Amino acid sequence: MPNIAFLNGSFVPLDEAKVSIEDRGFQFGDGVYEVIRTYRGRPFSLDAHLARLDRSTAALDLSQPYSRVEWTRHILEGIERAAYPESKIYLQITRGVAPRDHAYADDATPTVVMTIREFHPLDRSVQATGVNAMTTEDIRWGRCDIKSVNLLANVLARQQVKQARVFEAILVNDGSVTEGAISNVMVVQRGTVVTAPEGPRILSGVTRAVVLDLALTEGLPILERFVSLADLYQADEVFLTGTTVEVLGVVRIDGKVIGDGQPGPITRRLAASFTNRVG
Ligand SMILES: Cc1ncc(COP(=O)(O)O)c(C=O)c1O
Repeated sequence: MPNIAFLNGSFVPLDEAKVSIEDRGFQFGDGVYEVIRTYRGRPFSLDAHLARLDRSTAALDLSQPYSRVEWTRHILEGIERAAYPESKIYLQITRGVAPRDHAYADDATPTVVMTIREFHPLDRSVQATGVNAMTTEDIRWGRCDIKSVNLLANVLARQQVKQARVFEAILVNDGSVTEGAISNVMVVQRGTVVTAPEGPRILSGVTRAVVLDLALTEGLPILERFVSLADLYQADEVFLTGTTVEVLGVVRIDGKVIGDGQPGPITRRLAASFTNRVG
């Protein structure tokens, strides 16, 4: 069954899955989501994704329709039904359908949507050469830790990426690098892996946590603090982490060459350890 969706408890063909125009996700962006990918057909770090989903729903006082065991069952069933070599699972919970009013009813029934699409990993040659990035102002709200479907600032940043023909936008808030529009950002300064601290300014990436854990295991010093734009340009290495990008070296930012213009040794080492971890 190609391109299937899950809507409020049932699997249906994607083009038959419809939601009311009065859904608060559509009206207000009042909802949260997760993106999970498979390796060899198995969802990666599913528990961490479901834990973050719980944090997102709790932060927005959204009722969580399924337990983690139930979510796991639905996700595994979706992967099996879709039967792709590798899948990308998108799941979304909104506060449900109600006449338009900013304030919400306490007993709203959430709308639950999941899609399973074929996942095409990045070409290995991209990882070998690294990618170009641009910086742009971080105009998002003050709770970027919530994985909200309200992605307008990210949409605008990704449109700039498309127009500039680079790979990612690195967001800068009041002079501090926060993260990418669809990834977390790490820099290497004199052998130390530095990345923005968890908190309201960034999404706490599942991949970020895995990579920090790998760095610790390998004895690399890590520091969770914000770096400035000048620090970013002068870093020995810069790399992105994320479900779709894994560990990906950035070799040029705003046209300025990072390090020697190739993914650096620590980036390559962590990318290799990551590949080992997921394999
Ligand atoms: C803004 C933002 N930061 C970071 C990430 C990386 O998170 P994860 O590693 O959980 O995919 C994403 C993923 O989509 C994201 O959208």
